[in-house]
Amino acid sequence: MERDKTMYRFRYSVFSIMALMLFFGSCGRKITINEYAIVPMPVEMEMERGSFTLSGSTTCYGGNVGQNDASIKYISRLLRQWHFNPVLAGKMENNSIQFIINDTLVPEIGEEGYTIDVTKDNIVIAANSEQGLFYGFQTFVQMLPEDISETRYSKIVLPACHIKDYPRFGWRGSHLDVSRHFFGVTQIKKHLDLMARYKMNRFHWHLTDDHGWRIEIAKYPLLNDVGSWRVDRDDAPWGEAEPPQEGEARTNGGYYTKEEVREIVEYAAERYIDIIPEIEIPGHCCAVLEAYPQFACAGDDTTYTVQYGPYWPPRAILCGGNDSVMLFLKDVMDEVIPLFPYKYIHIGGDEAVKENWKRCARCQQRIKKEGLKNEEELQGWMIVQMEKYVMRQGKSIIGWDEILEGGVSSDATVMSWRGDRGGIEAARRGNDVIMTPMEFCYLNFYQADAEFQPPAMPNTLLTLHKVYQFDPMPESLPERYRKHILGGQCNLWTEYINTPEMAEYMLLPRMCAMAEVLWSPSTSRDWESFRRRIARNIIRLRANDYRVGTSSFTPWVSKEKLSDGTSRIAIHSETEGTDIYYHTGDGKFRRYSEPFVIAADTELHTIAFYNGLLREKEHVLKLRTEN
Ligand code: ACM
Ligand code: ZN
Repeated sequence: MERDKTMYRFRYSVFSIMALMLFFGSCGRKITINEYAIVPMPVEMEMERGSFTLSGSTTCYGGNVGQNDASIKYISRLLRQWHFNPVLAGKMENNSIQFIINDTLVPEIGEEGYTIDVTKDNIVIAANSEQGLFYGFQTFVQMLPEDISETRYSKIVLPACHIKDYPRFGWRGSHLDVSRHFFGVTQIKKHLDLMARYKMNRFHWHLTDDHGWRIEIAKYPLLNDVGSWRVDRDDAPWGEAEPPQEGEARTNGGYYTKEEVREIVEYAAERYIDIIPEIEIPGHCCAVLEAYPQFACAGDDTTYTVQYGPYWPPRAILCGGNDSVMLFLKDVMDEVIPLFPYKYIHIGGDEAVKENWKRCARCQQRIKKEGLKNEEELQGWMIVQMEKYVMRQGKSIIGWDEILEGGVSSDATVMSWRGDRGGIEAARRGNDVIMTPMEFCYLNFYQADAEFQPPAMPNTLLTLHKVYQFDPMPESLPERYRKHILGGQCNLWTEYINTPEMAEYMLLPRMCAMAEVLWSPSTSRDWESFRRRIARNIIRLRANDYRVGTSSFTPWVSKEKLSDGTSRIAIHSETEGTDIYYHTGDGKFRRYSEPFVIAADTELHTIAFYNGLLREKEHVLKLRTEN
């Protein structure tokens, strides 16, 4: 916790740009916006003739939206926080921005959609609900200049347009593992701000795992006193750390108090984000077993320790034959459920190695008594017990796709992470599904050539372009099952991510691609357009204090061997507008403009810059032609 304070030095800044927008003065620049770069791409965006000029005399009106309604309060509070006019009650006059809840519902845009009309007289943002208005506002923020937080404008000329927008999927999720590394309240809020900016609406909070238990549980205080802390080895790469020594202080970790959880839930709700807490059952429980070793299997003499570094294969497993384990889990649920208003509780279920169960007399006894076939069915039995318990309290469970192996009720929602197979099977069985196949959705994977990136999950690669190619709806799934695909989400596992800055580096810009995949219609998917729009979003994000991965600037070299032994080299980067320079060993960089031919055995050095903003480590690739 102490460490938390020194590390998290962020401003509450997502909406500072909105405030600064109104920070017009007589001094200041004028700007004419030439093109909007909105992510996710709206369903319809028609540019029209003329423009609206935003200036110090522009007024904001809440129209028919009550001053106490959440969105207006939210927008107004942020404006007021930076000493500007809040949204006023009353009717629109010329030169105003008007927020309207439609008197007559517009069915096409649904609960979450909105329209924006920019004309020479006004800007009108309208929706069927406050949530729609909130998303309209997020789009509006992206219509302003990227550098508005740094530059004072006296006038902003916005081209006239009509936007109609609504989401493709209802589940637009972002997962964060706070067990492998703990991220404090400030960073969680910053993460929620980021989600809101890109219209994501489900925060999957991975609160428990082998490497730390992160939520206060009053009835079992050792979960926090012991299970939330470990010896600090953050200087070593994950997997190369020395084991903890006897008596070494446990200074790394932390947990969220109930008060903090409530604060975060409320913060998320203001941004139309529901939170799904994950309590891992029955595996990934090293932190539980160090705190309460009596919940391990009979005859398991392992000394479990909350520690840094891999714990693989993850053999720690709660005893499935011990009634006091089931009581413990129910007690934990009794404390977790009241904190989270949303209907889902995630019970994990992944990667539970069942070797201990095979050797445990109690587990074997349970298998016999309950007429179960094997250890997989014992996991199924435990999950179903928890499901029944959770359902009695009006909630439903979500589990990783392993829960299909033990059999769950059709009420359970399956999170498909080992490809889309589990998701397809679940949908066919009538279970709801959230698609998060790791090859498209695991943002802890390298985003570019590992040699030039900070350490990440070894032997992985997930580029921005690949994320953009994700489609949560499997092509092979027959129409009648498609309603079960609720949407998708990106996951950030944090073994290799030990600072908030690194979390942002890995999330961005790939999370923006995920947001577009989940919101925009598949028919509007257009990589060339996205790589143009993402470039401007990267500038905006950096201006708002987010650390963005430089990977999308990485120069990718492709080589075609020619018959005379030379090679034709082409270089591209994912982000449009990247300036790529290269040299072939003489140290004199030239700007790349078109493919060129090099002789065998030439070293090729490439460096990418973007708009003078690439301040990270330079990307230098060396390529030998015979490779
Ligand atoms: C997972 O990545 N083990 C769900
Ligand atoms: Zn057991």
